[in-house]
Amino acid sequence: MAHGAALRRRAARARGWPGQERLRSLPPGTAGARTVAGLSERWPRGVVTGISPEAPLPASCRPTGRDVRPSECARQQHSRGKAARRGTQSKEFGQGNRGTGDPGRKWARGLSRARARGSRPWPWRLRATERARLAKAVGCSLDEIAITRGATEALQVMIGGYNKLKPGDAVAYADLDYDSMQYAMNWLKDRRGVDVITTAIPEPATYQNVIDHYTKLLSDNPRIKLLLLTHISHRTGLKVPISEISRMAAERGVDTVVDAAHSWGHVDFDVKDLNSPFVGFNLHKWIGAPLGCGFLYIQKDRLGDIDRHFADEDFDADDVRSRIHTGTANSANYLSIPAALDFHHAVGAANKFARLQYLRDRWVKQVVDVPNLTVMTPEDHRMYGALTSFRIDGNTTREQSVAITDYLTNEWGVFTVRRGGVAKGEVIRVTPALYNTPQDSDLLARALKAAARRF
Ligand SMILES: Cc1ncc(COP(=O)(O)O)c(C=O)c1O
Repeated sequence: MAHGAALRRRAARARGWPGQERLRSLPPGTAGARTVAGLSERWPRGVVTGISPEAPLPASCRPTGRDVRPSECARQQHSRGKAARRGTQSKEFGQGNRGTGDPGRKWARGLSRARARGSRPWPWRLRATERARLAKAVGCSLDEIAITRGATEALQVMIGGYNKLKPGDAVAYADLDYDSMQYAMNWLKDRRGVDVITTAIPEPATYQNVIDHYTKLLSDNPRIKLLLLTHISHRTGLKVPISEISRMAAERGVDTVVDAAHSWGHVDFDVKDLNSPFVGFNLHKWIGAPLGCGFLYIQKDRLGDIDRHFADEDFDADDVRSRIHTGTANSANYLSIPAALDFHHAVGAANKFARLQYLRDRWVKQVVDVPNLTVMTPEDHRMYGALTSFRIDGNTTREQSVAITDYLTNEWGVFTVRRGGVAKGEVIRVTPALYNTPQDSDLLARALKAAARRF
């Protein structure tokens, strides 16, 4: 007779994931429905769970795991003994949630049991199912994605492996791009003999001035052949109009490589919407998979432009998996990806985005008129998601930023992080998560008004 737990598992499989039935029952053609490589996934915008951005999240979507509390996040991020009372900063390690619990641990146990029985859970084979789920979710075909340990790994292999550069060509990146991608672009100088051009995104930024800025950059520097773009900046939270810039670049014969580490999972889009042949993602920020999960996307007809990873021979040259050879990785993490996607779909991408923008708007609206406080993202819904940084005028050094973040943590129990690397000086970033409440935003706004008077 089957064991009780096995029966429960079988029943759960038959039931499917939360919200699945509701999605299935929606009529074809519902807004947001997407069809990918013949597979149809109904993903209606804003109606999956009926969550309005103002409403508190239903209990099933709230995090309950020990390691997802804001205070725990604060400790993990900065090893601070004294944890923040309210977290407005959760992105580094993702949000976690009751839907996925800690799937990594569950799968790790499963893998150890399999090993104990003598069977060998071969990571590459195990990844096939997860790749299929990902391809469908992000809107591309299976042969366009390969799983990596994160966005850094995905983008490093695409930047380093891009084989169309010749000595004398140039590549370009901006101040708001992520450090490790900037390093990879700098490395191309020695690796490919190219010039590396850097630029600073306009501040204050607008939808049009960012597009105009990149247009001028490419017009003034016709030797640029590869351009790094970041969909959502981890420094200021600026959401860059990737689709328009990539199209403009392609018209000039320039390829773009896009860092989508911070966007997919909280912004609702398909990879094809970006109009870029090379995109790197992670899954541990906004999708809530365990640490160490990401993937790369290479447009099918552009695979030949990226070298095989260290001359990989495990896969054929026309197989995208030959573009990343990680070795023995943590299969338990990869096996958890479907559970994380289940949760993501159950809440609904559009619902997540609406909720996060609402929490962001709520604090920004209360401080936007404070004379000595600058909000780093414009009041244009196309230009931000959850993350938004601020600067208290004149506080542009690391020491000054640390003083402000310490004040917010210690006096107000609000956790924020400083970010350097912005051409005009340091900023402080606020990142609400799904589990933050409107009251957290209000508390933050009060804290910022007090900080602006003090610093
Ligand atoms: C914009 C951006 N790109 C890339 C990364 C690196 O992502 P990963 O940790 O998946 O390597 C980060 C991490 O914070 C990021 O913020």
